[in-house]
Amino acid sequence: MNYSAMIQNRRSVHAFREKEVPSEAIGQLRSYYEKTCPRLVPEIATELIVLDKDAQPALESSAGYNQFLIGAPHYLLLMSAPHSYAAINAGYMMEDLVLKLTELDIDTCWMTFTDSDKIKKALSLATPLEVAAIVAFGYGEKTAKKLRLNILSMSQIDVRAEQQYYAPKKGVHDLVHMGSWSNKSGLDEMMDFYDDMLWQSFYAASLSPSYLNRQPYGFLVQDHSIYLVQQEDAYTDNLDAALDLGIVMLHFSAVASKWAGQVRWELSPAAPDGLPEGLRSAAVYHM
Ligand SMILES: Cc1cc2nc3c(=O)[nH]c(=O)nc-3n(C[C@H](O)[C@H](O)[C@H](O)COP(=O)(O)O)c2cc1C
Repeated sequence: MNYSAMIQNRRSVHAFREKEVPSEAIGQLRSYYEKTCPRLVPEIATELIVLDKDAQPALESSAGYNQFLIGAPHYLLLMSAPHSYAAINAGYMMEDLVLKLTELDIDTCWMTFTDSDKIKKALSLATPLEVAAIVAFGYGEKTAKKLRLNILSMSQIDVRAEQQYYAPKKGVHDLVHMGSWSNKSGLDEMMDFYDDMLWQSFYAASLSPSYLNRQPYGFLVQDHSIYLVQQEDAYTDNLDAALDLGIVMLHFSAVASKWAGQVRWELSPAAPDGLPEGLRSAAVYHM
């Protein structure tokens, strides 16, 4: 997959047409999940469930911002064995599937959710695995295609915004810190040293979808180590925060692995020197 291109093409779609995705494309997605989709923590058992719009009533009160479910012809549920890294692994894997769907010209939207047991019961799912991630997919409304979610404030999210709205993302300079938190000197020189490949990887990370577009994280570079640092965020709960981290790791790794080979993350490493309070070191990658 051309990850850089798919990462740049992807945007969340908040209104779907009724048109169904052909079963061949769903078959391709399933076989991609089985054979190719990378796992962050391979020992965690997962299962992919594809639902159609009949599942909507079962998801209605459990998924979406303020329980406002986006009506879509299909939903993907990634189920996971319980594990302290279940959500971060699910974020990583599900975002890879989102990019695969993007490659198949299919639109997607991540959905937050509250209660795995309630969803399983409503859908009569017998699996012992738990719901770890949900994504709606199909074909976006033509008129809504250019729309991004209009996040007016945390309590006022206008999913029916009429005018085009571009949800601004953190830029690479906001996202990456050099040596110590908030220090930017030496950043451009480091990017130059790696001949833009590192910049492309951070750029891919900066385009990550996140819960309420909060992007509650940053990267801290110390010598040849890149720490992914989680920032406390009053609006993002633990589950969404872990999904966000998995997603941003996938974006970075997918692009970095083109020049660095497989990117291996160590999870929950010892905090790097001088990390301010309120920040947690979630992962480290040694270049
Ligand atoms: C974990 C997670 C949960 C999300 N939940 C919802 C949701 O319930 N409803 C919704 O409309 N968008 C949801 N989103 C989509 C974000 O609002 C979207 O990614 C963000 O606004 C950035 O826009 P973009 O994806 O087009 O880059 C979610 C995204 C993530 C990563």
